[in-house]
Amino acid sequence: MRVLIIGGGGREHAIAWKVSQSPKVKKLYCAPGNAGISECAECVDISVMAHEELAEFALSNKIDLTIVGPDDPLAAGIVDVFEKRGLRIFGPRKEAAIIESSKVFSKNLMKKYNIPTAAYEVFDSADDAIEYLRTADYPIVVKADGLALGKGVLICSNYNEAVKAVKAIMIEKQFGKSGSRLVIEEYISGPEVSVLAFCDGTHILPMTSAQDHKRAKDNDQGLNTGGMGTFSPSPFYTEEIDDFCKKHIYQSTMDAMKAEGRDFVGILFVGLILTKDGPKVLEYNARFGDPEAQVVLPRLNNDLVEVIEACIDGRLNQIELSFDDNAAVCVILASDGYPEHYEKGFEIQGLDSFSDSSNYYIFHAATKKKNGHILTNGGRVLGVTAIGSNLVDARAKAYEATEKIHFKNKYMRRDIGKSICG
Ligand code: GLY
Repeated sequence: MRVLIIGGGGREHAIAWKVSQSPKVKKLYCAPGNAGISECAECVDISVMAHEELAEFALSNKIDLTIVGPDDPLAAGIVDVFEKRGLRIFGPRKEAAIIESSKVFSKNLMKKYNIPTAAYEVFDSADDAIEYLRTADYPIVVKADGLALGKGVLICSNYNEAVKAVKAIMIEKQFGKSGSRLVIEEYISGPEVSVLAFCDGTHILPMTSAQDHKRAKDNDQGLNTGGMGTFSPSPFYTEEIDDFCKKHIYQSTMDAMKAEGRDFVGILFVGLILTKDGPKVLEYNARFGDPEAQVVLPRLNNDLVEVIEACIDGRLNQIELSFDDNAAVCVILASDGYPEHYEKGFEIQGLDSFSDSSNYYIFHAATKKKNGHILTNGGRVLGVTAIGSNLVDARAKAYEATEKIHFKNKYMRRDIGKSICG
């Protein structure tokens, strides 16, 4: 098979690495890819949003399967463009990707189909939202409706902060069009767990659990980021919780999407919060998580291409997933200053220290090659994933590995997995 992966971050490197393990795959491309991905795929310099150009590339290069990594092309309808041209592609159509691209849609879906989630109200006027905030309980959560690079969710501890959040979203339009509507949601607390699931429109197969660290600084301080590190599995995600989610969340979401005429084929990322009243859905995403993919895919025993083909063909019920009985920890090496201002273009050294080991995966998130050197090329630069017999072992190995990689302005959180491992 000839396979094309769309995207160029750590998630896409993890997908590309896993796809390249499949005996079915004879040629692998990635658009646009990055320096690390170029080790296992041929990188093609086409933007993830240039859908017609990507489809042309797929047709002229006889691509049998395209796999989409990021949310933006899915929300904009890349799957519809490819399917119209008769191309085989993995990801939800635009009508189903709305489960991530509109928080108003996903909250209304959960309410209509009794899927556990926090209580909420929707507003399309700042005045009405501010009026509502006068009598609300605090803390409270204000969310922009659309995609906002993970920054459109604001936890507000009092009225003034909440009014500021509403104004930032709806009046100052800090998140662009994403802020024409917003959701104001009850604040709920508990450990957060990410569960990614394969979906074929009818059936859903959840993968092993993972846990992200979204804030930029240790002890969950600082700004929200795309994710500064992950571990898998999450010890909070017990069998009992898994049973509950299978009964009340996963299949119910698939059935709800089908009932709405929006069959979901692709990866459904269920962001759970384990409250004292039971698991609730914090958010849905319509793709692999990043860096969740960097700890989940190395533990997956199945051939990823086989599972993806089963999703597209609607026969996921014939697949049994298997994960290694070990643990993985991923620490993101970022450019100091991320997610705000940072410099890039610095040479990365030490990457060759890991070439022989099967216990380490250095996934490139933002790197490029120049004159034979590998340079930093963005905020999140690398994901250093280590496999261990348990989380303590994997964590120790991951942090040891981070010390072997050097670049100017290297920054990482020092507490990935610390709450679990001590
Ligand atoms: N790590 C969170 C996300 O992928 O959205």
